[in-house]
Amino acid sequence: MNNKLILAIVFIYFSGLNIHAQKFDNLAETPPMGWNSWNTFETNINEQLVKDIADKFLELGLKDAGYEYIVLDDGWMARERDEEGNLVADPEKFPNGMKAIADYVHSKGLKFGLYNCAGGKTCAGYPGSRGHQYQDAKLYASWGVDFLKYDWCDTGKLNAQESYITMRDALYEAGRPVLFSICEWGDNDPWEWGEDVGHMWRITGDIIDCWDCAVGHGSWASFGIWKIIELREKEKTREVAGPGHWNDYDMMEVGNGMTDAEDRSHFAMWSMLNSPLIMGNDLRAMSKETLKTLTNKEVIGVNKDPLAVPAFRFNNEDNIEIWAKPLENDAWAITFINRNEESVDLDFDWKKYQLADDLSQQYFKPSFKEYAIRDLFQHKNIGNTGKNLKTSIGVHDVLMVTLTPKS
Ligand code: GLA
Repeated sequence: MNNKLILAIVFIYFSGLNIHAQKFDNLAETPPMGWNSWNTFETNINEQLVKDIADKFLELGLKDAGYEYIVLDDGWMARERDEEGNLVADPEKFPNGMKAIADYVHSKGLKFGLYNCAGGKTCAGYPGSRGHQYQDAKLYASWGVDFLKYDWCDTGKLNAQESYITMRDALYEAGRPVLFSICEWGDNDPWEWGEDVGHMWRITGDIIDCWDCAVGHGSWASFGIWKIIELREKEKTREVAGPGHWNDYDMMEVGNGMTDAEDRSHFAMWSMLNSPLIMGNDLRAMSKETLKTLTNKEVIGVNKDPLAVPAFRFNNEDNIEIWAKPLENDAWAITFINRNEESVDLDFDWKKYQLADDLSQQYFKPSFKEYAIRDLFQHKNIGNTGKNLKTSIGVHDVLMVTLTPKS
């Protein structure tokens, strides 16, 4: 063989290796559902906790409701890599290693996720993946990891899009399908490039369990529910969500200290916005009301609606938020959320309003066409749009309905 031919073969071989690098398909056709350890446990995680959480998925009907992933966030690793440069599970927290945990989670018919970071260190100071992406991806595949949340601390001048592409390609080459969760807090406009790179991307800094607050921590801040909803409302987030690629409004704070009414509104909005539904509470110790909210299949049904178009703010009068989400078959989901500090009496004349959504090309004209109304928290049909909707909504509570056109 002459040199040119050898070079050509080498070139085709190596370009062939990369040509198909992409994210894995068909992993998040509807927004991912699961549980993540961070909001409640931070780095205080261990093998028994994961096993208990997996058991609770089945015992409490969470798996039946659609929750699937159990994700260990920051703090699962030892402080140092081993001599070969491999990540090691913290030997005290996880004495049997990560594969044993993944096997346990899989034995329950669930999927297992881990956290790491594009920088040299994770946000809690554990070894990050910078310079080890392909090695880490292989290790995750050998353990049976199905989900990777990839953070953005200690990244210096790294380019975000390129860094996330590197990890995407590493996961793809390792060969085990992994749902890739981008977590750079919306700092680098991931809604512009995330679709080809990951299956979900955080759009804000960290969530905190309050209705509408922002808490500063020096160089960064955490945000309550309404701050998270509103922070990127003016960005092109709505247009880019769809099967396989979703805006991530962060792990939920349902059950972590807000009122039951606030939790219902939070859950309703995450569903309306097509956010992943990742629980962040202690599943071993939750109230009946929290469980009822988290397993509300009718609300989850809105999150999973096949049209896959997120809600938009349709009105805010007297501090009553009204959000609308087009659904398949010309139906709509509407949430009324009371942001006042007192109950309000609603007397809503549907016929005064009409909606036209350019994105879904869907219209809502109750003066021309009647819609049947179903209340998704009461689980009952409550009349039609021919009459005013009269009800009262408690402090920070939600009325969530679907409207189905009458034939
Ligand atoms: C960042 C992320 C959080 C969590 C922590 C872990 O702040 O945004 O969701 O993963 O790091 O250290």
